[in-house]
Amino acid sequence: MYEQVSHSLLNEILNELKPDIKRRDLRHFYTRLGANFYAIHSLFHTLYGDRDDFRAQALNLVETMARQYIERPDPLKKSDINREKNHNWFLAQKWVGMALYSNGFSGNLQNMQTRIDYLEELGVNLVHIMPILACPEGHSDGGYAVSNFRKVDNRIGKLEDIQALADQMRARDILLVLDVVVNHTSNEHSWAKKAKQGEKKYQDYYYIFDNREIPDMFEESMPEIFPENSPGNFTWDEEMQKWVMTVFHDYQWDLNYSNPAVLIEMLDIILFWGNRGVDILRLDAVAFLWKKIGSTCQNEREAHLILQLLKDCCQVTAPGILFIAEAIVAPVEVIKYFGEDAINAKECEIAYNATFMALLWDAVATKNTRLLYQGIKNLPDKLERATWLNYLRCHDDIGLGFDDNDIILAGYEPKSHRKFLIDYFTGKFDGSIARGLPFGANEKTADSRISGSLASLVGLDAAMESGDKAAIERAIKHILLLHSMIMSFGGIPLLYYGDEIGTINDFSYRDDPHKAGDSRWVHRPVIDWEKAELRHKQGTVEMQIFSALKKMIAVRKLIPAFADFNNRQLHDTGNHHLCAFSRINPHHPEERILVVVNFDYSPQHLDLTRLSKLPSFQFNKVKDLYTGETPSIFKNELVVPPFRFYWLTDL
Ligand code: GLC
Ligand code: GLC
Repeated sequence: MYEQVSHSLLNEILNELKPDIKRRDLRHFYTRLGANFYAIHSLFHTLYGDRDDFRAQALNLVETMARQYIERPDPLKKSDINREKNHNWFLAQKWVGMALYSNGFSGNLQNMQTRIDYLEELGVNLVHIMPILACPEGHSDGGYAVSNFRKVDNRIGKLEDIQALADQMRARDILLVLDVVVNHTSNEHSWAKKAKQGEKKYQDYYYIFDNREIPDMFEESMPEIFPENSPGNFTWDEEMQKWVMTVFHDYQWDLNYSNPAVLIEMLDIILFWGNRGVDILRLDAVAFLWKKIGSTCQNEREAHLILQLLKDCCQVTAPGILFIAEAIVAPVEVIKYFGEDAINAKECEIAYNATFMALLWDAVATKNTRLLYQGIKNLPDKLERATWLNYLRCHDDIGLGFDDNDIILAGYEPKSHRKFLIDYFTGKFDGSIARGLPFGANEKTADSRISGSLASLVGLDAAMESGDKAAIERAIKHILLLHSMIMSFGGIPLLYYGDEIGTINDFSYRDDPHKAGDSRWVHRPVIDWEKAELRHKQGTVEMQIFSALKKMIAVRKLIPAFADFNNRQLHDTGNHHLCAFSRINPHHPEERILVVVNFDYSPQHLDLTRLSKLPSFQFNKVKDLYTGETPSIFKNELVVPPFRFYWLTDL
């Protein structure tokens, strides 16, 4: 869009650019800058327009983009142009992801190169390597307390290692995802250190207060994220003799985005990593980016403006890069991280589908799909050029973040239902063989979340210990049916490392005093490669899970209806144990896949006459694409065996 104020500012800025920038051939950069500058200017102005240094900061912003564009390697510039042409590339069903800690997966970054074959064997072609940047030992929050945003942690490797890995992955058409922890830094980051030494410039990078007056006002409405081991949202710093806002751990200082210098630093970091060959950046804890007294300090409008600004600027310099929003918030809120009132994502192209994840766990515990059905039904449509990251487990806990209203519509009372789920997954509920651990238990609010590996949460370890073959088989079926849901739902399935071989809880974290208080470490495994070898041995649990997932991934990739174009229809089956939806090939609407999943112990019947949204689906011709089998249909009812999933086609 053209607008005079922003256009004349842009002209002034271009005139003032340093000569070394002006001399370069920046044709593509200028075209994109011209196209985006109206948006960039209005966002920057809304956020920072009342500051005296507004113009100087706007110049800094443009210079940062231009410098990083100049440094962007040619192959990446080419890839940007290709991705611009084929701008829906990431919605295709070909992508299947895995999140992993490189030290847990392969010891370090260098060894990862030798493990790429394993990922390829499984069919994974998008790899989220969990935080790799320098962190103080012991006070790292699993990599999310960064002390240097441009340095790889010594224990994991060097910058060259990640660069080499990125090159290797690109050559094999595997996408690389890395984190940028945008909300906070470690208290040992150089900015924090300078702030402690009294440098005003860096104190302004954080929320720092002389006394409790303002912190107390904030506390009135801010929830606690880690109530067990880091209560409250502020920490007293002895050296500075001041209070610092620390929403997460006391050693994670929240960055102050009402200071434009912080935003520009972060943009520079994002572009730095983009230029190292990262395809997708996972922006951590984005819901927390803006703090306002009297609010929960989550999902504030300005947090969205900041993300829009980062996106617009990134689009100028490195338009091929995508953002993932890590916003583990209510469905109506999470959808806003794609950007509102738009067709293309204006903020992050990809968002964690935490609601779907939690709903799936609800179906596991209850053996029915009432809440899952409500939740999916009320999940807002995503934007056209945006997609979900569908996952079952990740390095974090499971929060029971569904909507209370949906719980009520499903026929439960919210408080007691949540308590049931916690009891179920921590094994307290009679008959439950789940072995999860509580996380983030808050005595004041009686809330809790859940840690535990996928296999342990579905009772694989308990079943193996008891030697109960039927129970082992059930656990394996659970692992597979849950994966069948994330593979077929629409979006990018993101597996969690170790789950592909049924990795159970690992309690060794309890021996490390820095980890013992954080039960999330129970599901951050070190892969046992001898155990992984068992995936080739007939009859082993490893083989049953790995080979089934491998097949599921391969089949998914062949089904265009599984690409993500808002092409899903949910069915009301009238049977509470089943979940059924169809997926439609956006280019050939006659190509439909009916997904049916039975979450119960007993066989269930699906009354086909209820599938009014699937007129003319030819049930006399159906075939399950996963097994190649024809399922039983009896008197217009499809029979679904216990814990079984179907991907049915009628072609
Ligand atoms: C994100 C990370 C989580 C971390 C938190 C604070 O939620 O996923 O592991 O504890 O941010 O950085
Ligand atoms: C924050 C994050 C969430 C994470 C939690 C740490 O709430 O948004 O992802 O689970 O911190 O456990």
